Amino acid sequence: MLKYEITTEGTTKLYVSLGKISKKLPVFYNPAKKFDRDISVLFLRTTRKKKVLDLLAASGARGLRLAKEANAKVWFNDINKEAVKLIKKNVKLNNIKPLGISNKRADEFLVTTKEKFDFIDIDPFGSPITYVYQAIPRLAKDGTLAVTATDTAPLFGVYPWTCFRKYGSFSLKTKFSHEIGVRILAKAVIEIAAKHNISLKPIFAHATQHYYRIYFQSRRSHLKEVLQDIGFIYYCSKCKKRFATKFEMHEKCKCGNKLSFAGPLYIGNLWNTKLIEKMLSLNSPRYIKKLKKKHEKFLNRLLEESKVNIPYYYEAEELGWEGKKLDEIVKYLRKKGFKSSRTHFSGKGVRTEYNVK
Ligand SMILES: C[S@@+](CC[C@H](N)C(=O)[O-])C[C@H]1O[C@@H](n2cnc3c(N)ncnc32)[C@H](O)[C@@H]1O
Ligand SMILES: [Zn+2]
Repeated sequence: MLKYEITTEGTTKLYVSLGKISKKLPVFYNPAKKFDRDISVLFLRTTRKKKVLDLLAASGARGLRLAKEANAKVWFNDINKEAVKLIKKNVKLNNIKPLGISNKRADEFLVTTKEKFDFIDIDPFGSPITYVYQAIPRLAKDGTLAVTATDTAPLFGVYPWTCFRKYGSFSLKTKFSHEIGVRILAKAVIEIAAKHNISLKPIFAHATQHYYRIYFQSRRSHLKEVLQDIGFIYYCSKCKKRFATKFEMHEKCKCGNKLSFAGPLYIGNLWNTKLIEKMLSLNSPRYIKKLKKKHEKFLNRLLEESKVNIPYYYEAEELGWEGKKLDEIVKYLRKKGFKSSRTHFSGKGVRTEYNVK
């Protein structure tokens, strides 16, 4: 058995391999993703999903926290034998009774298991897309699928053709590229679920430079509704105009410049406002008793964004208001009658219905 150190996340204790974050760790663990795992605990405590599959579990960090801090019954799977040994150690350390622990290739596990899960988490190295097709049939009725992508460079416009190869959409380098990336990922997952006649609607999403994460709610009807929210975002690099459309084609901007486009991508709301309100109001004596300031600020920002429901944002300079305080810009635009908010995607961004002329 390899040597591990004990760390704590929330109320969960974990044996992990600490060291340079890389695929080469004997068992992968990234302490920087603690915030993301905190949020998934809050999500699960709010939605009360019971049966969870941690498909690519590594040390089991996420699944263990969902079991210990959100009362879930968790199945852990990982292809790495060392990871499975470590999961067993961590399960004991936390006094948890797992639903199961398996040491299979994810696709093999998904096609051989008889279980259905209320919540499936896909947190791989790189793109989650290759696992989605086989994961969908394992989702229980009204289940939730959460995916993480760490291959952000193709998605945010550095490699548009790689993005097209992996996700069937073109990304585009702009000031709001991370949002384009998240929306391309959302579209790719929605499209795969649609092949199974399942509607997957995004209900919660967030991004940093290093990873994108989206939670989808499954439904057996309403498929057309979610598919109708797939379209394109057009962008003019000269006058900075941007707009979303369904399947109409546009070539020229009103200013005369040639338009660029990103897509197809999901242009509907990435967040369910009521869900975020519930996550914010969650008050538990055992877990985040009073939501930590960082989490509260983050959720409040998503809450504001969810109310604007426009699939892009601007940086102040693109609106011609360079140097102005973002909160002042938002206040001004709201006063003028345009739904507006700041955005978690960028410290410099304003999400708004207002468009440059
Ligand atoms: C990014 S890590 C998971 C991190 C974990 N969810 C956490 O919160 O710490 C990805 C894991 O997927 C596992 N893995 C890679 N390819 C796999 C496959 N085809 N089937 C099952 N597991 C796989 C790796 O061994 C690794 O432990
Ligand atoms: Zn223009």
